[in-house]
Amino acid sequence: METISTTQDVVTFVQITDTHLFSDEKGALLGVNTFDSFTAIVQDIQTQDIACQALLMTGDVSQDHSDGSYQRFEQGIQPLNKDCYWLPGNHDYKPSMSSIYPSAQIKQATHLLAGEHWQVILLDSQVEGCPYGELSAQQLEYLAQKLAEYPQRYSLILMHHHPKLVGSEWLDKHCLHNSEQFWQVVAPHSNAKAVLCGHVHQDFHQQHNGMEVITSPSSCVQFKPNSNEFAVDKIAPGWRSLSLLPNGDIETQVYRLSGTDFLPDFDAEGY
Ligand SMILES: [Fe+2]
Repeated sequence: METISTTQDVVTFVQITDTHLFSDEKGALLGVNTFDSFTAIVQDIQTQDIACQALLMTGDVSQDHSDGSYQRFEQGIQPLNKDCYWLPGNHDYKPSMSSIYPSAQIKQATHLLAGEHWQVILLDSQVEGCPYGELSAQQLEYLAQKLAEYPQRYSLILMHHHPKLVGSEWLDKHCLHNSEQFWQVVAPHSNAKAVLCGHVHQDFHQQHNGMEVITSPSSCVQFKPNSNEFAVDKIAPGWRSLSLLPNGDIETQVYRLSGTDFLPDFDAEGY
């Protein structure tokens, strides 16, 4: 368990997700150089000058499973000078990931006590070799245990895969497959406030069973919302800030790069 302390009552995080990095600096996903777009995202975070306590990386750090891709992420976030907490996505390769992390800036934690009023629970929804997600019995039990252990703290739950359909058939096939079990575990706990995911490469924010379900833009290619077939979007890469307030509310904002430097190949038929 890690503790995030703050002198104020509010804890602020910056989320970077789905960087899809390669060990090769020229590595591209659907025509977007993922290291260049990630570097531009880090610069944008610096420009916005958000007073955040830590960074959250919600999976798909790598596209090629290489140790070098994980090193690239580590080097890339250095200018932000903040601890970063991460969890694996479907594209991540745990042996490479765990040979590079934890590192000085990238911490290993599945539970954060964030300020006086919140906890953050990081879950692993990866099913090795599969694009969809699932929470193991052990992960579900861990979630139930942490929600029960700190009933006085509001809870932000992190995992790569989305537990609520976003309305795109091709992406929703690869959602959290046992999301019903997830919702059953959180239902008795009124302290569970929000679930934050990556994976869908788009900004999505809806209520479900009294909780907020939030997903975020990738730092590279964006997927078009409400498209039943694979489609990339014409909007720029982005990132998200989240401030956890003492009354249980979350203030959150999506930021996107300006310009058209990182638009993908619109003829792509899949990734
Ligand atoms: Fe993913």
